[in-house]
Amino acid sequence: MLNHIIDLELLSFSDLQEIVQLAGKIMKNPENYSEACKGKILGTLFYEPSTRTKMSFQTAMLRLGGSVIGFDNPSNSSVSKGESLKDTIKIVSGYADIIAMRHPLEGSAKGASKYSSVPIINAGDGGHLHPTQTLTDIVTLHNEKGRLNHLTIGLCGDLKNGRTVHSLIKTMSHFEGNKFVLISTKELGIPKYIKDIMQEQNCEYVEVPTLQEAMPQLDVLYMTRIQRERFASMEEYEAQKGVFVLDREKLSLGKEDLKVLHPLPRVDEIAENIDDDPRCVYFKQAIYGMYARMALILLTLQGAKYSYSRGKIIIDNSGCVNPKCITHTEPYMPKEFKEKGGYLVCEYCDTAKKPGEKLKEK
Ligand code: NCD
Repeated sequence: MLNHIIDLELLSFSDLQEIVQLAGKIMKNPENYSEACKGKILGTLFYEPSTRTKMSFQTAMLRLGGSVIGFDNPSNSSVSKGESLKDTIKIVSGYADIIAMRHPLEGSAKGASKYSSVPIINAGDGGHLHPTQTLTDIVTLHNEKGRLNHLTIGLCGDLKNGRTVHSLIKTMSHFEGNKFVLISTKELGIPKYIKDIMQEQNCEYVEVPTLQEAMPQLDVLYMTRIQRERFASMEEYEAQKGVFVLDREKLSLGKEDLKVLHPLPRVDEIAENIDDDPRCVYFKQAIYGMYARMALILLTLQGAKYSYSRGKIIIDNSGCVNPKCITHTEPYMPKEFKEKGGYLVCEYCDTAKKPGEKLKEK
């Protein structure tokens, strides 16, 4: 069983702790790791734009003494000639020892992992998940807050389409005593399956309409941009843009030891004149991300055995009901689901449906 990193949900506490601790050790003595991955090759397949994630993966591998191949513009690769994801992955996994992939469709990383002979790391699959951003976030919290539990965490912005938010809640809801304050418009609220996860974990959460209301109680504020590229029309995006802006006045309502995180890029949701406030750690966060990825690459290539929980797979050929699921554009992928409370949950994108239910034609 290969150790793909598709969803941190599948890693145990001790796996996460190991990654956080190793990131800390590398940060302290990077020279001790400068040849740790000598002779190994990372493939970076970016079907969607990226600055931090791609470059932090690349520098992580280079700083470990390894090399990097890949593309960040699929129109320069055979993808533009109509090559399937399956074929691309089969080829690249013959060239590289580990692959980091970002793709606009939900469940694409899981789909790719089925055809790869080397570990696949999900570097973002559409609006679904972004597990290595969460590793970045927990390394940041560990270093900046000194703990991962008993935190009141505010999440603000596009909670519907923000994959970093989904991954972060999924992971942080497993740590004791964490509470979430969800700050968004009604239209951009958190998906139901993430609410279900918080409930299953007995994790307290509240939804509030303004930053002002949320600020005084927060230990952590996780700001996000409105994900313009995931909207059906510009009008819908325009209606949501600029609703939540963290500025000096709102920050002044926060605790003294509050930490403000943001996966970046920022558009207009954080005023630039607060960047120098010591509570704002989003630029530091991007640096922690490189160390988090160094630790992950190293452990994965060393053959770390993550403790995957494997439920029973059900095939339902009527397919997934999420139009953004990878199984619609790569139709050879088996239509796999897991049963949960009378529903079938898509193995790729986590969308729940009734057995036999089909995608509605537009
Ligand atoms: C995030 C992403 O790509 O989901 N960025 C990142 O990886 N640092 C957040 C975003 O694009 O808004």
